[in-house]
Amino acid sequence: MEQKSIDDMNYFELLAWLGIGSSHPGGFPATIQNLETMHVKTEEYVLDAGCGNGLTACVLAKVVGCKVVGVDLNHQMIENARVRAKREGVSHLVEFKVADVYKLPFEDNTFDLVMAESITVFLNKRKAYKEFYRVLKPEGRIADLEMCMIQETSDDNFKKQMKACFGNGTNPLTLEEWKNTLQQVGFEDVEVRNPRTLSNNHNVKSIVKREKS
Ligand SMILES: C[S@@+](CC[C@H](N)C(=O)[O-])C[C@H]1O[C@@H](n2cnc3c(N)ncnc32)[C@H](O)[C@@H]1O
Repeated sequence: MEQKSIDDMNYFELLAWLGIGSSHPGGFPATIQNLETMHVKTEEYVLDAGCGNGLTACVLAKVVGCKVVGVDLNHQMIENARVRAKREGVSHLVEFKVADVYKLPFEDNTFDLVMAESITVFLNKRKAYKEFYRVLKPEGRIADLEMCMIQETSDDNFKKQMKACFGNGTNPLTLEEWKNTLQQVGFEDVEVRNPRTLSNNHNVKSIVKREKS
């Protein structure tokens, strides 16, 4: 397949091209904290939904020794993830597939844990969560690490910037909205764990300011 020029790449394509491993809020330290919080066990079967370049899936397999499937819509991501798994010596535990999280190629009640890191923020959340719910076992759990809004904003410039940077569907919810969405789909005992404020060095503010002048 012909390589797109950087100017034509969307956010995901750019991440794939750069081979960035932890492209979610809080980066790799947040993943480690998340995994510790979720107490993943060796015998569990984990889905990393929107796995990107496969860093989290490979770390899980390496550290915990559990079986993991990573899915992503982007072919380059999956190719990078497979190379990573081989390099890390975990190909026997981790499998990577090109798949859409809205239509996962798995039976109902398959996984003990669904990990999602910076993916539902870009998607129709109910639709994605319904599919995660379907493939989870009845006692299964989900850990979704996403960008949140501290409060709702009517600042159209901010929303415009978010979409320009991350793509059209990008829509971070407030913590309460995230919780409600998960509950509406059927998840129980929904909790917010390890929230933290992103330090953006005031970049977002300055972009908005520049646009106004
Ligand atoms: C911001 S990246 C995060 C990747 C990885 N989870 C991480 O934290 O580094 C979002 C990923 O979601 C994938 N993605 C977006 N929509 C998807 C969909 N409908 N089904 C599967 N993957 C999707 C993108 O291709 C991209 O790799």
